[in-house]
Amino acid sequence: MRLCKLIFCLCLSGFQALFASEILEIQVGAQTHKLLQKDLLKDPNLQTVTVHADPAYAGKSMTYAAIPTAGLLKSYGIQETDALQVTSRDGFVSLFAAKEVLHPQDTVQAFLAIESPEHPWPTLASPATATAGAFYLIWQHPSSVLIGKEKWPYQVARIEVKAPLASRFPAIFPDAKLPDSDPVQKGFQLFVQNCFVCHCLNQEGESHVGPDLNFPMSVTAYWEPNALRKFIRNPQSVRSWSQGKMRGFDEKEMSDDQLDQILAYLKHMAK
Ligand code: HEC
Repeated sequence: MRLCKLIFCLCLSGFQALFASEILEIQVGAQTHKLLQKDLLKDPNLQTVTVHADPAYAGKSMTYAAIPTAGLLKSYGIQETDALQVTSRDGFVSLFAAKEVLHPQDTVQAFLAIESPEHPWPTLASPATATAGAFYLIWQHPSSVLIGKEKWPYQVARIEVKAPLASRFPAIFPDAKLPDSDPVQKGFQLFVQNCFVCHCLNQEGESHVGPDLNFPMSVTAYWEPNALRKFIRNPQSVRSWSQGKMRGFDEKEMSDDQLDQILAYLKHMAK
């Protein structure tokens, strides 16, 4: 009898594994829509999209089955003025203005790439235990300023409509009197795009992959300035350990001027 039950359970879990379909959650207001990988793979808008320098796969050229996000997200009532939060399985949190995903500039278009269980994508360089799937947000002809490499979220689990940044996280904003052209303001924008996906600041933020950069003490107060620059460019060149999760930002991705602007913002926030 027990053996029967065991065999039955084993078969059942085998079947479940066979038919397991990853779920993407889309939350708008009080409603959560659960989209199944197997259904998305049958979506009539599915098309083949080639990415020339894929950030998840070390800049290689990759080809995906993908759905334009504009039509998909609009069908769930997401509007251009919304603020979106995209959460990945590993805790990575990216923030977007919905227009970056919905109303792309003429040459830019966002897609949701969907992995097929029959043809899995290659495993990531690090951690090498999983692929970028089952869901990965990609852009065609991305303008590096608008959608930086750090903003291409993979292993996407959830897309949510959230209130605008200024009302959710007022403590990360620099002095409002500073003009947009001020290095501190530019550094703030760069911080939100590149660093806020993993770090909190003044105890505000959704991601806790890395430490708070200003609380209880600013990193600019306890890091030697040259070591700090070196660390942001290549963390493992300053202190090396196998569990390090921070990626470096080389000159191609972030100019010296942009790095200066981020440091100007962090110093400003230290006050
Ligand atoms: C992928 C996630 C991720 C991103 C993106 C990221 N960091 Fe980090 N950061 C970490 C983690 C995790 C640590 C802890 C050390 C480690 O694991 O490498 C860290 C450590 C740091 C430290 C050292 C803190 C300390 O007290 O020792 C600084 C400074 C830092 N990050 C700055 C930045 C800046 C500036 C950016 C944006 C340009 C950034 N990080 C982007 C994950 C990230």
